[in-house]
Amino acid sequence: MAKTKILFECQHCGLTTPKWMGKCTNCGAWDSFIELNEHQQEVVKQTKSTTSKKSKAVSITDIQEEEIYRFSSLDTELDSVLGGGIVPGSLTLIGGSPGVGKSTLLLKVGSNVASTGKNVLYVTGEESAGQIKLRANRLKSNEKNLYLLSEIRLEQILVELQERRYDFLIVDSIQTIYSENITSAPGSVTQVRQITFELMRIAKESDTAIFIIGHITKEGSIAGPRVLEHMVDTVLYFEGDSSQELRILRGFKNRFGPTSEIGVFEMRSEGLVSATDVASRFFNRDSKQSGSALTVVMEGSRPIILEVQALVSESHTSNSKRQATGFDNNRLNMLLALLERKTRDTTLRI
Ligand SMILES: Nc1ncnc2c1ncn2[C@@H]1O[C@H](COP(=O)(O)OP(=O)(O)OP(=O)(O)O)[C@@H](O)[C@H]1O
Ligand SMILES: [Mg+2]
Repeated sequence: MAKTKILFECQHCGLTTPKWMGKCTNCGAWDSFIELNEHQQEVVKQTKSTTSKKSKAVSITDIQEEEIYRFSSLDTELDSVLGGGIVPGSLTLIGGSPGVGKSTLLLKVGSNVASTGKNVLYVTGEESAGQIKLRANRLKSNEKNLYLLSEIRLEQILVELQERRYDFLIVDSIQTIYSENITSAPGSVTQVRQITFELMRIAKESDTAIFIIGHITKEGSIAGPRVLEHMVDTVLYFEGDSSQELRILRGFKNRFGPTSEIGVFEMRSEGLVSATDVASRFFNRDSKQSGSALTVVMEGSRPIILEVQALVSESHTSNSKRQATGFDNNRLNMLLALLERKTRDTTLRI
């Protein structure tokens, strides 16, 4: 039987098809298909599951258990989000909006790891080595074993990885790195997929722990194909407004631990520091105030006190409105409907 050739790829969602389409049947994007050359077709084939290879099933009782060894990032917040520390040979993706502090966090973590005697390589495709040095001075991250490489070509990064053995590699960012073997632009679906595939191979082969930074789109997902999230072992999101000092690191996927813990950081001039006394950071109450209530929620193993504020005022129109900020409106309406139904006393109507 003749093999179906994959010739076209959607640059929006990564769907591959043998025929060109004006509108993608998966994501609905218009005019997003490009024709792949032979090399690109090969990459697509490699990243898809290889069903043609003959393999033999083994009884689960005969399989040796793999022990997960971890090393500390010397950052308690990051270690707890990762489930106890960094796993050698794992590939972690950190996503976050511009300016949230991704480079700051990873440079500090890189220098922490380097201070324990491990070799760390920080690859920057966005900033010059001089800019990183300035940041390193501010963060007090100058460590002998922390190496910088200002490079965007994947092939050159691979050469550096062959010249010295690195225990920890940071790639800032995946969207800026490109492979000379692929014609499409840096940040395109094919490039991002090929580079992630290569990095995954290096991580598993050399037991190097790799962290890659990924920019996020306006919708909040990591720019590039969804396949990126499937390929890597761990996905973390760095949240928080760059104008606010508190930042939250949240696990979205973790092949080596739970995703329930969050890390809370505070942005200071000396960098991101673990936010101590987190419980009292999300409310501001010096005196008793009307319309304000405090509640405690659990985020992983951490209790956090939140303040809920409410305001009721008379409506000047026949249709009164109920609105919430920081809370899903549909959920609010459902809760209010429940309260109305269950609290029979009409004086309690909300
Ligand atoms: N001198 C400084 N003092 C205090 N905070 C600073 C200083 N310089 C930068 N920052 C903080 O660091 C943030 C930028 O951090 P960083 O460059 O690590 O973010 P990023 O997520 O890597 O951004 P990008 O997406 O642009 O690469 C700024 O938004 C600011 O809050
Ligand atoms: Mg950055």
